[in-house]
Amino acid sequence: MSQNQSIFRTPGEVHFGAGAVASVGRIAKTWGERALIITGARSAKTTGALDAVCQSLKAAGVSVVIYDKVGHEPTIRLVEEARALARSEQCDLMIGLGGGSPIDTAKCAAGLFYSPEPVASHFRDGLEPPDRALPWIAVPTTAGAGAEATPNSVLIDEETKIKQSLRSWRWLAKAAIVDPQLTVSCPPTVTAYSGMDAFTQAVESYVSRHATPLTEAISFEAALQVAKALPRAYENGADLEARTAVAWGATMAGIALANARLGAVHGFAHPVGAFYSLPHGMVCAILLPWVIEYNLDVAAPKYARLARALDVTAPASSDECAARDFLAYVRELNARLGIPAKLGEVGLERDRIDEIVKHTLPSGSLAANPKDVPEEDLKAMLAAQL
Ligand SMILES: [Fe+2]
Repeated sequence: MSQNQSIFRTPGEVHFGAGAVASVGRIAKTWGERALIITGARSAKTTGALDAVCQSLKAAGVSVVIYDKVGHEPTIRLVEEARALARSEQCDLMIGLGGGSPIDTAKCAAGLFYSPEPVASHFRDGLEPPDRALPWIAVPTTAGAGAEATPNSVLIDEETKIKQSLRSWRWLAKAAIVDPQLTVSCPPTVTAYSGMDAFTQAVESYVSRHATPLTEAISFEAALQVAKALPRAYENGADLEARTAVAWGATMAGIALANARLGAVHGFAHPVGAFYSLPHGMVCAILLPWVIEYNLDVAAPKYARLARALDVTAPASSDECAARDFLAYVRELNARLGIPAKLGEVGLERDRIDEIVKHTLPSGSLAANPKDVPEEDLKAMLAAQL
């Protein structure tokens, strides 16, 4: 394909709306008879989401096996265990239920189901995924990562602490079932971090080198949906209208980033998150204003367009002024959500900067940033946050 051509891909179906989770059984039945549900140890149980999914599956005649050991980060070991369970239980379908972690675990376990090789070989040696994947369905219970809409699975290698993506277009979900009602019980910090992950993904995909008019339209609206509603969802978790807007924004940002990629925030976010065990969304939120400021001279017209749509700049202001107003707005949004202004406040140390930058440099997200970021600038951007 030549450089001026693009392809746009999405999950097979997106079922959206309060109560949509009740349709998981009917949708699953079109893809399989025996489903492995991959979920976390606690929240999907205490909120009733797991029960709702199981009931719907059983009512549709789909039998259920549960793998519930996923923690706050997906790892090679978790994918290996889930894949082994699906094989031994002869499952023909997987369902990822929860935040980005269980969804990415399900995506990778389904994507490598037919591979005879260990998951670690795909991760460490770059072995290509097989030509076919087990069908899988995403049921997110947080609004943020957009993992229900992407073809990549972000995993951590527990031995090396390296965090990176495995991806294949064959790994897109057969269906994403996005039920904002499932996000109502998210505590405020999870709401803030995951919501700012979605906002960062919307902004980074909007200004990405790989953005197209199609992805820009989706990124732009995703950023507005999240920005306007996230403070309300943070302050009053029961506000279903706000939860619905943030859920739209998260899924739309996922669709946009799957096709347009991201930027320097996500280049940094993987090594920083892995080295310091920090929530991904919090790391993204802290880094976003720093990267916007760095990109101002190349991306001002797009940041300005966001500022005008959010009504945070004077109507007659220049692109340069409006872009600076957008930067100030993002800093204020973070402060309103209780998010620190610098990585130094959450543990960043001077003597780890070189190592973080070494792991940032090969990132595909960094390559999509609208402005080249040389090694010395990456180091300076982190050093400024000590
Ligand atoms: Fe992200």
